[in-house]
Amino acid sequence: MDKRIAFITGATSGIGEATVQLLAKNNFKLILCGRRKDRLKSLLKSLSTITEVTTLSFDVRNNKEVINCINSLPQEWKKIDVLINNAGNAHGLSAIQDGVVNDWDAMMDINVKGLLYVSKEIMPGMIERKHGHIVNIGSIAGKEVYPNGNVYCASKFAVDAITQGMRLDLNPHGIKVTGIHPGMVETEFALVRFKGDEERAKNVYKGLQPLKPEDIADIILFTLTRPDHVVLADMIVFPKAQGSATVVRREA
Ligand SMILES: NC(=O)c1ccc[n+]([C@@H]2O[C@H](COP(=O)([O-])OP(=O)(O)OC[C@H]3O[C@@H](n4cnc5c(N)ncnc54)[C@H](OP(=O)(O)O)[C@@H]3O)[C@@H](O)[C@H]2O)c1
Repeated sequence: MDKRIAFITGATSGIGEATVQLLAKNNFKLILCGRRKDRLKSLLKSLSTITEVTTLSFDVRNNKEVINCINSLPQEWKKIDVLINNAGNAHGLSAIQDGVVNDWDAMMDINVKGLLYVSKEIMPGMIERKHGHIVNIGSIAGKEVYPNGNVYCASKFAVDAITQGMRLDLNPHGIKVTGIHPGMVETEFALVRFKGDEERAKNVYKGLQPLKPEDIADIILFTLTRPDHVVLADMIVFPKAQGSATVVRREA
């Protein structure tokens, strides 16, 4: 089987990085996206020894940048088979009345509008070719609201709604759409949420074994390698220690 081209946002760390490492070894060509150019450069160098790789550096919040970057892809990279909308983060954790407007903007602009901007550029080619698979990384926060999660949860509920909407609207065009909703995964996520406070970030996972980004990468690869007629539509993935968004078993 020919190699498929996968376009991955948020490839520079966490779930995205683990995913590109795995897809590189499993017959995919990769378009790696993120803002941090140094990380894209070193990933390009290491993964190019395994498969064909190219990189695009853009901020998903900037629609013009998204359009220009995706249009700048050479012809041989334009036939994208797989889009993994993974870029996203939580910014802050506070009661709604104490929320910071910049954090609200960041979460809605990156997690929701960024996903839409990127998808808007890639869906037409998939529709034309009547073929493609979109994987949106949501969150348990998009299934259950937890205290102080308010706007992050809203952004991930929106991702869930968009994923369902995509599945309906793209159905006549033969495009598969999958939503994957992780619980606690140890990445740079908590560090970003707590604005670089390493101590606070470490406490999130204290006394429990969280998911590794590789655990989600495995599930993404499994999803992408089902027979063509099979769609894994929607999956919640927890570490064993987690029972819901708020129920977590910690060892003392
Ligand atoms: N970790 C968890 O517990 C968890 C749980 C549920 C869902 N998720 C979701 O999983 C996805 C990946 O997160 P992660 O846990 O792997 O966190 P992470 O390690 O912080 O990775 C986030 C990725 O998103 C990219 N990104 C952030 N803002 C961006 C922007 N404005 N423009 C372009 N790229 C941007 C980052 O790249 P640059 O900084 O280089 O741009 C980075 O590659 C997110 O959608 C997150 O909401 C995570």
